[in-house]
Amino acid sequence: MPATADTTHDVVVLGGGSGGYACALRAAELGLSVALVEKDRLGGTCLHQGCIPTKAFLHAAEVADAARESAAFGVRASLDGIDMPGVLAYKDGVVARLHKGLQGLVASRKVDYVEGEGRLVGPRTVRVGDRDLVGRHVVLATGSSARTLPGLEIGGRVVTSEQALTLSEVPSSVVVLGGGVIGVEFASVYRSFGAEVTVIEALPRLVAAEDEAVSKALDRAFRKRKIGVRTGARFASATQDDTSVTVTLEDGTALTADLLLVAVGRGPVTAGLGYEEAGIAVDRGYVLADERCRTNVEGVYAVGDIVPGLQLAHRGFAQGIFVAEDIAGLDPPPVVEAGIPRVTYCDPEIASVGLTEEQAREAYGEVEAFEYNLGGNGKSQILRTSGFVKLVRRVDGPVVGVHMIGARMGEQVGEAQLVYNWEAYPEDVTPLIHAHPTQNEALGEAFLALAGKPLHTHG
Ligand code: NAI
Repeated sequence: MPATADTTHDVVVLGGGSGGYACALRAAELGLSVALVEKDRLGGTCLHQGCIPTKAFLHAAEVADAARESAAFGVRASLDGIDMPGVLAYKDGVVARLHKGLQGLVASRKVDYVEGEGRLVGPRTVRVGDRDLVGRHVVLATGSSARTLPGLEIGGRVVTSEQALTLSEVPSSVVVLGGGVIGVEFASVYRSFGAEVTVIEALPRLVAAEDEAVSKALDRAFRKRKIGVRTGARFASATQDDTSVTVTLEDGTALTADLLLVAVGRGPVTAGLGYEEAGIAVDRGYVLADERCRTNVEGVYAVGDIVPGLQLAHRGFAQGIFVAEDIAGLDPPPVVEAGIPRVTYCDPEIASVGLTEEQAREAYGEVEAFEYNLGGNGKSQILRTSGFVKLVRRVDGPVVGVHMIGARMGEQVGEAQLVYNWEAYPEDVTPLIHAHPTQNEALGEAFLALAGKPLHTHG
């Protein structure tokens, strides 16, 4: 049956994840007619298989640790074990509530929500079943999926984060392949749930995109938690049977565990969607877009994980909103990659924005760096966490990098990103008051020290 051409929309968005739905909502808010095409569930990876469910796991992990370590706070409690179906029900409840809210939001903004698998059949036409949605503008937002390595098949005891989110039992031992963001978050969860955990990372350090001081602190903290860390270790092969999986490294070491979690990165979902046939420039599966999210084809934009760069939900949101405003003629400023805050929710948490000290030296030559130890921060002591806030500034210039590690430090990234993006000097921040006793004071103290007037530090 030939497809029927619908009325033309101002915007047709392909993919209902963070980037796509944010674009659709903002475009509708701006009075544009919008179609949003989604083949699975509105909310995408972030809501269903990524940010939200994993952070529910991490919160359950924090509760388990609190019970296990309660005596340190003078509270008598004990950890009887992890009821994994209970954890799954808690996680699914959170996801379901947010999903329902999002569906309501999309309906209330009068977005034409089209369920089904969409495919570009022309530069401005998305075919879904027997419908052809024609857009004055088309926004590609089809996201990413977990990658694996050549010769390493996902199945059985070899899983990615997607399957790990549905397992109904806690494995007694886990090898985590990849010490990036997903790897360290899951290593943290499984350790808190009581498993023996080993992380294998090919690079010389965990979370290699972070400042080196942060990687070192995480390595120390993980070892203290008895998480095995093998950096500079390259995967060679894996075999599994009914009872275990064995991972062999290139140096011949063999590690046997209940489960192998593969966390070696996520790749773009663009194959077979008609992008290249429509003349859109694609490089190794990624859609190439300029700083205004424009592809090389007039009227076609790309946002989120299919565009090379940080694969973060809030980058997708920001790019989606940007594109909607651009189409509406508001001439918004582009999303600057270095100004996007980054949080890794393992225990201890990592948060950063801007340049690492090394990157800042490369960019600016001499820089000043200061590390404020959470040992001097009252609230952090109350929480019994350790870590630091590290600031990097240009000599007599603005702050160009903020790097933090410690329990709950992710919540501090808001101030850090304002300081970075407003190109603030430490001297601009020091007259502003940080509430006592909060972990936020650690940022205040670090700014004071960098401005040459340390209070609770030796400067
Ligand atoms: P990643 O790129 O952060 O880390 C993958 C790690 O695997 C790298 O450190 C890499 O060196 C290592 N690796 C690759 N091949 C290897 C091999 N053969 N042997 C040993 N190690 C190997 O990717 P990840 O952790 O899978 O995450 C995917 C994306 O999702 C990332 O862009 C991440 O930022 C994003 N994400 C963000 C979260 C957050 O913001 N909290 C949470 C989870 C994911």
